[in-house]
Amino acid sequence: MDRAVSVKDFEQLASENLHKHAYDYYRAGANAAISLNDNVEKFRNIPLKTRTFVDPKKFKGLETTIMGQKVSSPICIASTSFQKMTNEDGELAMARGAQAFNHTTFMLSSWSNVPLEDVAQQAPDCFKMFQIYLSKIPDVNKDLWIRVKNSGFTALGLTTDTQMLGKRENDLRNGFSLPEGLNMANYNKYNKTHGQNQDIKSSGKDSGLSEYVKNHKDQNIGWEIINEIKKISGLPVIAKGIMCKEDALTAIEYGADALFVSNHGARQLDTTPATIEVLGEVIEVLKEKGLDKKIEVYFDGGIRRGTDVFKALAIGAKAVFLGRPILWAMAAGGQKGVEKVLKIMNDELKETMIRTGCYCIEDISKNGVKLEEEKLV
Ligand code: FNR
Repeated sequence: MDRAVSVKDFEQLASENLHKHAYDYYRAGANAAISLNDNVEKFRNIPLKTRTFVDPKKFKGLETTIMGQKVSSPICIASTSFQKMTNEDGELAMARGAQAFNHTTFMLSSWSNVPLEDVAQQAPDCFKMFQIYLSKIPDVNKDLWIRVKNSGFTALGLTTDTQMLGKRENDLRNGFSLPEGLNMANYNKYNKTHGQNQDIKSSGKDSGLSEYVKNHKDQNIGWEIINEIKKISGLPVIAKGIMCKEDALTAIEYGADALFVSNHGARQLDTTPATIEVLGEVIEVLKEKGLDKKIEVYFDGGIRRGTDVFKALAIGAKAVFLGRPILWAMAAGGQKGVEKVLKIMNDELKETMIRTGCYCIEDISKNGVKLEEEKLV
């Protein structure tokens, strides 16, 4: 790991260290994985406008705010499930890495292998978000939201795109199951009391996770759930999975406090546009409706470079999230891997900013014409 200098290096190390089924699970995109590649590749279509005789001494830092809370950087960690397949500490290593690297903001998955309370304890100073999937058992959901609030998480990311699981072909071929001893740890508490299943075991006919989603995840929910979650948890809700202006406006109409442009790392529906291709549409519609000052937009999908972060911020994202890069880093070096990949990404963003004449995050704006104007939307 000492010689890793880019996200690509971490992926190479991860592919060497991980069990094939785990690597395939993390790497998977839906179907032919066209959108998976597009998420990464389409950043190339946005050229940067470099400036000359910039002054590195003028650089003020990466600090910004998310939901009004001061954070050290707009680069955050996305919610990804089952992190104990990367290393024995799982989500604890992720949270320790986030805490150690300037209190990086993170979103914890509902489907973590470590209970949310234990994860929260490792990161007292981070802005902690919790991602929500809904069980079919309403009492389980309600109790979980209250546990989340009581553990110090201050925002919820409601995933809106997973009524069914995408077709991930290697997981089907592998009959993906969680390794012995691992499960969805947040639900352990409800197994005896509510009959809530927390095990992921394939029957041999399908991926174990796909079977789980069919049998145990609530598929009969809609936008109304946003207000119920807000009322019971007392926390703001971010609608995660927005890929068009129509859903952006509907989410806000139903009470979403912020939007999250994401195609779930291209794991759900293949041949959707790359996320960077729809970010402009969402930002524009908020401007049109006069909502842009009120509603923040977060972004993920395919970010592998500081230049990618810069482009998403320039188009209008308030913060960006890294999914697979963090998993690769954990597989390469646990907590230390997380710290190192965060440092690489933050350093690259800093360099991009200086070379484009942006000395603080507020300088990165479409109006600052840091990108070629016609490529933005
Ligand atoms: C995810 N993602 C995800 N999203 C979510 O809302 N809840 C979850 O539990 C998971 N789990 C998950 C597992 C794995 C292995 C991956 C790769 C992704 C989606 C995730 O939050 C994020 O949207 C993408 O990972 C971002 O894309 P990149 O950075 O991986 O390209």
